[in-house]
Amino acid sequence: LNTWRQITSHVIGLSLASSVWDLYKREILQSLPLKVDDIPGNSGYLHGLFRALDSLGWVDRASDGIVSWTERGKKLTDQAFRLEVVPELLESFSNEFLEVATGNTEIGDWLRGHQAAPVMLAPDEAGKPGPRELLKRLGWWNGDSWTDAGHQALRQSSIYQYPLSYLPMLRRTEELLFGDCELLRKRLGSGEEVHVDRRADIKFSGQVFSGSVAPVLWDIFLPLLDSNPAFLLDVGCGDGRMLAELGQRAPGVRLVGVDFNPVACEVAAENLRSFPGSLVVTGDVGNPKGLAETLAQHGLDLRDALVVTKSVIHNRPYKVPETRGPGRTQSCCADAQGRLISAADLEGSLIECLRNWKECLGRHGFLIVEVHATPCEVARACAGRTLAPAMELTHCYSGQLLVEPEVYYSAAEAAGLKSKAHREIGQSSFGHFHMTVDHFV
Ligand SMILES: C[S@@+](CC[C@H](N)C(=O)[O-])C[C@H]1O[C@@H](n2cnc3c(N)ncnc32)[C@H](O)[C@@H]1O
Repeated sequence: LNTWRQITSHVIGLSLASSVWDLYKREILQSLPLKVDDIPGNSGYLHGLFRALDSLGWVDRASDGIVSWTERGKKLTDQAFRLEVVPELLESFSNEFLEVATGNTEIGDWLRGHQAAPVMLAPDEAGKPGPRELLKRLGWWNGDSWTDAGHQALRQSSIYQYPLSYLPMLRRTEELLFGDCELLRKRLGSGEEVHVDRRADIKFSGQVFSGSVAPVLWDIFLPLLDSNPAFLLDVGCGDGRMLAELGQRAPGVRLVGVDFNPVACEVAAENLRSFPGSLVVTGDVGNPKGLAETLAQHGLDLRDALVVTKSVIHNRPYKVPETRGPGRTQSCCADAQGRLISAADLEGSLIECLRNWKECLGRHGFLIVEVHATPCEVARACAGRTLAPAMELTHCYSGQLLVEPEVYYSAAEAAGLKSKAHREIGQSSFGHFHMTVDHFV
């Protein structure tokens, strides 16, 4: 558990440190208590950042929007000046060991995370760590070999890929929080996104599928084949790893992947090549009707598919919805201009997305693996185990629309979807579940 505690602190540091430094540099941290809406900047991202600090127990947020320090937060801000090195660490991210005097504090852990991540992701050819001094300090290397904690850290180190895949965005948090944040939402001429290294992101996501999701998925998935779907349709298929694993257990069922990113389409098509008739098309999870038309061009009827999706519903592009929800979510999400989306609109957008799907589904239904927002009090209670503050901030910054599980299920109900089978994921590592699997019809 101690090793995992170190790693979670590193990952949280990688995700939050540059933003906390931005607040410090502008003397915003030093000016608390204050109202988030009074800070000049992009309200959606600022609210997301203070929510993450709340999840860490650094600040309290009152219902009138005023943020103030907790005792713990006050102590930590005394250390915030040390984060000055973070932009440089993120810029010259390499295997070179950068000596940063940090002391035995949470901020120290955050900085060590910036150094440990590249080392742990790239041991040298002999499987030995590159710069060993840091690893000795972490207790992971004893001078000759990996310690038990080091072996454990190696097993868990793939989690460092998560914040690193958002490195292009984490290098530019100042623009996100205070500048022209739309720059980061632009796409290159090729359709590739600029805020995320999608190749790294889908690789990591595929690993999460195999490590955490697959073990609980099979007893829901396999009985669904009894209804003989004509094809499996994975929406937001990433590298195609999940679809390939499903396909191995569904011999003879055609595999169709959908993604809105050209890099993902390319990688998925390559990974699905050995499955006869497999197909990868471009499409958006937020537009099932458009997807039905694309499939029709390939002679496929969306109603004949067993539709699956993992970690994508919350990544639909945000459109102001016509329906408004009851406004219960505490999650902080931003629109494309970086403005805070109201709770009622956030819920309404989810209801509309799921309702559009309900109208397009056939009898085989929709198997959804989805990630959720974690209430701040739950994250605080699971400190040292949970990655919620890091995950939610990177989701917020990248325009993703997480809501709490209860909000998600009431949106599904409002959309007319019923869950016929349900599982939860995350309890054993995070201390709370943060993902669910459901077969909706
Ligand atoms: C977090 S990855 C998940 C990949 C895969 N489903 C998995 O879990 O391993 C998200 C994938 O969904 C794709 N994606 C994100 N938003 C999408 C959208 N609105 N429509 C279609 N694909 C989307 C991304 O390009 C990426 O490949």
